[in-house]
Amino acid sequence: EELKSWIAGMPKAELHVHLEGCLTPALVHTFAERNNLPLPAALSSLDQTSGYSFHDLTTFLAVYYPNLAVLQTEHDFRDLAMDYLTRAHAQNIKHVELFFDPQAHTSRGVPFPTVLRGYRLALLTAQRTLGISASLIMCILRDQSAEYAMATLMEALPFKDSIIGVGLDSDERGNPPSKFAAVFQRASKEGFLMTAHCDIDQPNSIDHIRQVVQEIQVDRIDHGTNVVEDDSLVEILRHKGIGLTCCPVSNSVVTDDFKGKEIVDLLRRGVKVTVNSDDPAYFRAYANENMEKMAMGTDVTRKELIQLQRNAFSISWISIWRKTHFL
Ligand code: ADE
Ligand code: ZN
Repeated sequence: EELKSWIAGMPKAELHVHLEGCLTPALVHTFAERNNLPLPAALSSLDQTSGYSFHDLTTFLAVYYPNLAVLQTEHDFRDLAMDYLTRAHAQNIKHVELFFDPQAHTSRGVPFPTVLRGYRLALLTAQRTLGISASLIMCILRDQSAEYAMATLMEALPFKDSIIGVGLDSDERGNPPSKFAAVFQRASKEGFLMTAHCDIDQPNSIDHIRQVVQEIQVDRIDHGTNVVEDDSLVEILRHKGIGLTCCPVSNSVVTDDFKGKEIVDLLRRGVKVTVNSDDPAYFRAYANENMEKMAMGTDVTRKELIQLQRNAFSISWISIWRKTHFL
């Protein structure tokens, strides 16, 4: 209990959280009702206060995408983001960089500007009323085509000042980062910072990490703990200051290992690892609960727990956020 309140009191930064992963069962009910839509299948058999159930990435994504059908208007996207930002503020998160998946909405007929305007309104309101610093990272769905990714990047250009970076998420199997090399090259030219998911225990994990570092030249990697298998690649991450945004509770849901040992090992080898929540409404763990998982499940010291949060502020894009918004 003393440990829990110590973690709760620590000022924190969160760098790996999907806005679409903040859709709680309660919010699904709210949006379905006000848009006169049926409850998605996963919800009709679920009590509002309990949770979703799944055991791997496939069963997770099979609930995650259909649930998004209830998101229709700018106000829905605003309320979704505001719900998360209110919880984040209550957990003493000072800065957050939020992923969003425009293609999960444009693919079902919701226009890109509807999504962006709703999210942006919430971020501006939260900054003003809660004092939490927040920015948006647009993710490309890697299981869709490179052409659709490029078209989405083009749709983002009029909103460039509201999007700090471009990321890569969804189903990694058979979708290597190199598939999107041209998209990332253009994103970089347009001034976006770059990150990419290299999920844990994927086939060709080391190849994918090498691609994002050497070919795409990302600024960060999301997950990426498989890098421990290759000492020379660990040294490159350390030397270049490329940070990892790890998600212990998410790991424990989609595989049977939360990768605590690997996260601590990388921290002690000088890699800028951080601890984050990924899809908190689905994994039922926000920033504090993920820090607690590390504290309880590994031999990490309190000093090292503080270092995890120092890493997060250090590899965050907070100074760049200032550049885009105030200059
Ligand atoms: N999109 C949202 N959450 C994700 C996850 N855990 N892995 C891949 N893509 C995602
Ligand atoms: Zn993620």
